[in-house]
Amino acid sequence: MGGSTLVARGDLVEVPLAGVDGEETLPFPIFIQPNPDRDPVLFSEEGARLGETRLERLHSFGLATFFVPMDRLGAYYSFLEESLDQTLEDPSVPIEEKCKILHQVVTHAARSFLKTPPDKKRLERMLRLLDSTTRLAYRENGALRHLRRMVEGDPTLAGHSVAVSLYSLGMGLRLFPEDPTRAGELTWGAFLHDIGRVPREPGKTDPLPPGTVLDDVEGRAPDYTHTSYGADLLQRLDLPEGVVRAAGEHHERVDGTGAPRGLQGGEIHPFAQAVALANVFDHIRSSHRGFLGIFETFRILIQSFSGCFAPSMVEAFLHTFGPDGGSAP
Ligand SMILES: [Fe+2]
Ligand SMILES: [Fe+2]
Repeated sequence: MGGSTLVARGDLVEVPLAGVDGEETLPFPIFIQPNPDRDPVLFSEEGARLGETRLERLHSFGLATFFVPMDRLGAYYSFLEESLDQTLEDPSVPIEEKCKILHQVVTHAARSFLKTPPDKKRLERMLRLLDSTTRLAYRENGALRHLRRMVEGDPTLAGHSVAVSLYSLGMGLRLFPEDPTRAGELTWGAFLHDIGRVPREPGKTDPLPPGTVLDDVEGRAPDYTHTSYGADLLQRLDLPEGVVRAAGEHHERVDGTGAPRGLQGGEIHPFAQAVALANVFDHIRSSHRGFLGIFETFRILIQSFSGCFAPSMVEAFLHTFGPDGGSAP
């Protein structure tokens, strides 16, 4: 969810209309702006049910978006989250629209999820959203391509975690074409790989320190403690081994030059190998604020990290950016 998809007018925020169901009671008011020269007007009160007729009226205005007050945005996202799978399975919703909603819901959830170390309940809710993403990617060709286009080189922990999860999901489609469950676990591991960076006390800031390409903050020794801290945290939460190891081993390199343990080749879990590549890719991209093209980023990665990643991982990663990239076979 970047600046381009949310437009604030005063304390109103523009959000997509798709995903709003006429049958449900809406826990937020709806403001619409039929005339771009005028301010948005109240269309429906908080707590109202739109009904099909009023929903159709909205669609008949040609509106694809509406406005909610900033302080009801959380209620809007919770509502969307509840009906997400229904929206994603609805054949009448275009794929671009589904991806936009999914990306917004996941990014919004990631921001609040990554503020404090997770408990089981919050974790399960987050994993369900990631599973919705995996299912959509396996069900609809091109979904991942749309989702990936929404990745903007956002250097916050939430932006980075969502980006790495989408890149890794693309690799999962290629590595485990018949096994969405395994690709889903890889996606969990990718999303949670830097969970050890979550502020250990509430109220601390969320963004990654500047210049965290591979944790080489200038003038400071790289800090890899987040890998073992994250792995321990995920183990305590009973996550599968691959997910735990993706967090613990994502700074390892197959040629043994990684950290903190200097593991080599097959000693590194395949999930960690996939996440390592996606992680470096996103760090390069986000350190250029998303302005670097996909292929330029990849060129830097191949030149600067020669030998660091297994050829099969490089191939899977490259495939996701090919012409049919990000499609289930
Ligand atoms: Fe990391
Ligand atoms: Fe990372």
